[in-house]
Amino acid sequence: MSNVEYDTQELAEKYDQISDSQYENGLILIDRLGLNEGSAVLDIGCGTGRLALHTAKIVGAEGKVAGIDPSPLRIEVAGKKVRKKSSGNISFKVGRAENLSGFTDSSFDAIYLCAVFHWIADKKTALKEIHRVLKPGGRVGLTTGDKGNPFTVRQITDELFLHSPYAGHVDIEDDTSKPVTKKELQALFKAAGYENINISTRINKRYYSTPQEVIEFVEASSFGTFLMHVPEFLRTAARHDIEKEVEKKRTPNGIEIVSNTLVAMAQKI
Ligand SMILES: C[S@@+](CC[C@H](N)C(=O)[O-])C[C@H]1O[C@@H](n2cnc3c(N)ncnc32)[C@H](O)[C@@H]1O
Repeated sequence: MSNVEYDTQELAEKYDQISDSQYENGLILIDRLGLNEGSAVLDIGCGTGRLALHTAKIVGAEGKVAGIDPSPLRIEVAGKKVRKKSSGNISFKVGRAENLSGFTDSSFDAIYLCAVFHWIADKKTALKEIHRVLKPGGRVGLTTGDKGNPFTVRQITDELFLHSPYAGHVDIEDDTSKPVTKKELQALFKAAGYENINISTRINKRYYSTPQEVIEFVEASSFGTFLMHVPEFLRTAARHDIEKEVEKKRTPNGIEIVSNTLVAMAQKI
């Protein structure tokens, strides 16, 4: 079953407006990839295309950026931007990391996945496919949540669901988001044949006015899957309890949400 079945046009459009934290990490990723004019780049899980448009400016008219995402609704938002201000070097289509059969072997100089890897169910196949379509010497870069140090809302839900009335009804392993630890990521890259693997951690703190704003961000970022592993009869209570816990994170600057992002680079030799 697809993990984007709960996405809506409203969530996709909202994500485009409130995804600054992912975008800022993405700019670091693009910088580290060291792209040149003329580079051929694949953006996997491109979402609404914000970062792909930035990348298209770097690679210029001689380069190309292909963006794929399993959500047709997010591809639609991305496609509209291209129709408005395309320089012809960028394309978007529906697709997922585990199946890159639409692309030929050794065809990209660089591939990136910004805030996507934790959503991929079959990470081994995805990394193998990426390796296949990278040119020798090409690099893959990704940002992803750190399972060893989950972001504030995931910490709250993991703890909450251990207790009544959720215990026995919610399995946190059923969450659609499946982050890995730094060690697991290193091992996955190695097993898929990559070299020059480098993984660092970046800590982001963002401040929100209300718990509802926090939940709105999580819902848009998770394309509607948030709390879908909670049985329907407990979902309203869960949302209420999460909002109460989120409110406890209030500081003089607002509600503080901390995320630990793994920023990883690896090369196909
Ligand atoms: C948090 S958004 C990140 C979007 C974009 N990369 C950005 O930085 O704004 C996660 C994206 O991953 C996509 N996604 C989910 N499962 C995926 C998969 N198996 N392969 C590729 N993308 C996937 C979702 O549709 C969603 O657009």
